[in-house]
Amino acid sequence: MIVRNAIAGIGIYLPDRVMPNMELADMVDTSDVWIKERTGISQRHIAAEGQTTSDLGYRAALAALDDAGLEPSDIDLIVCATSTPDLTFPATATIIQERLGIHHGAAFDLQAVCSGFLYGVNVTDALLKAGGPKRALLIGAETFSRILDWEDRGTCVLFGDGAGAVVIERSDDAESDAPGILHSYIRSDGRYRDMLYVDGGPSQTQTVGHLRMQGNAVFKHAVTEIAQVMRDCAEQAGVPIEDIDWFVPHQANQRILQAVAKKLKIDPDTVISTVAMHANTSSASVPLAMHQAIQDGRIERGDMVMLEAFGGGFTWGAALLRY
Ligand code: ACO
Repeated sequence: MIVRNAIAGIGIYLPDRVMPNMELADMVDTSDVWIKERTGISQRHIAAEGQTTSDLGYRAALAALDDAGLEPSDIDLIVCATSTPDLTFPATATIIQERLGIHHGAAFDLQAVCSGFLYGVNVTDALLKAGGPKRALLIGAETFSRILDWEDRGTCVLFGDGAGAVVIERSDDAESDAPGILHSYIRSDGRYRDMLYVDGGPSQTQTVGHLRMQGNAVFKHAVTEIAQVMRDCAEQAGVPIEDIDWFVPHQANQRILQAVAKKLKIDPDTVISTVAMHANTSSASVPLAMHQAIQDGRIERGDMVMLEAFGGGFTWGAALLRY
């Protein structure tokens, strides 16, 4: 029997505090104009002191459960994509599991930096298809503000905090127009790990470290690899790119979104962008953008949607689904 896993609900959480570009201009040698022109970012949300990644992820999970009309007890798998866990261990997913009052099933973290949500779609889809868990919470949650070097203008202007979550449910309805994840495809190439990394960690430095990036080089690789993985994913699924209604990219830079759309000859109006409001929230950015487009009525049930992301590692991936 063919099984198709569908998104039953989606929810987000953004910290209350909004930091506009102007505030950064007081901290480093930058300007609102430069940040907007080079990235498209106007503002980002920043977690309050003491507010952790699990706090953000827990609230997004509650919102996703509410959207799906489900209770925490209905969930038997939690996957939390994050590169900014509360602690080195235990997994942030188990902290969220405990806060949701779930004492059955399994919970674990997944680390693929900004591609974490896409890796999560791939892994969750496979685990549900394998027949174990029935309903999963896939969460992307980050507090990147905690690993930024606030004196480095090349990176501190780019990121924000936030969380997004989806409930993914096993469905026996495998009709061709039924909702569900049709295909996903993930990639990585560790040769490029030094272009985007954090200079600390438990084993190497016994510190948390700060994000370091060769922005220009990352930009070029991102455009090339994202366009290719989108082509590959669509081809593997047997769906022409022209048949896809909406594209929900990882939100790193408006110019990357534009360059990819141009390369693939995609109508820019079908590319969801929230980078202006949220900046780069790493593994949270794709569900945050998808949620926005569902809320404002652009993405509707039955639409064909492609998700994609690129991040440190390098890691990258795409997923095609019928919402
Ligand atoms: N304000 C003002 N000037 C700045 C700033 C700033 N915030 N940051 C850099 N500059 C300066 C540089 O110093 C440089 O000055 P110089 O010419 O005197 O040397 C000039 O601006 C141009 O710098 P570039 O790095 O060439 O600028 P670019 O147009 O490439 O934009 C940016 C930089 C925004 C970082 C861009 O390269 C980018 O978005 N890269 C990709 C980031 C990304 O995609 N990350 C994805 C994954 S993230 C993850 O996985 C965690």
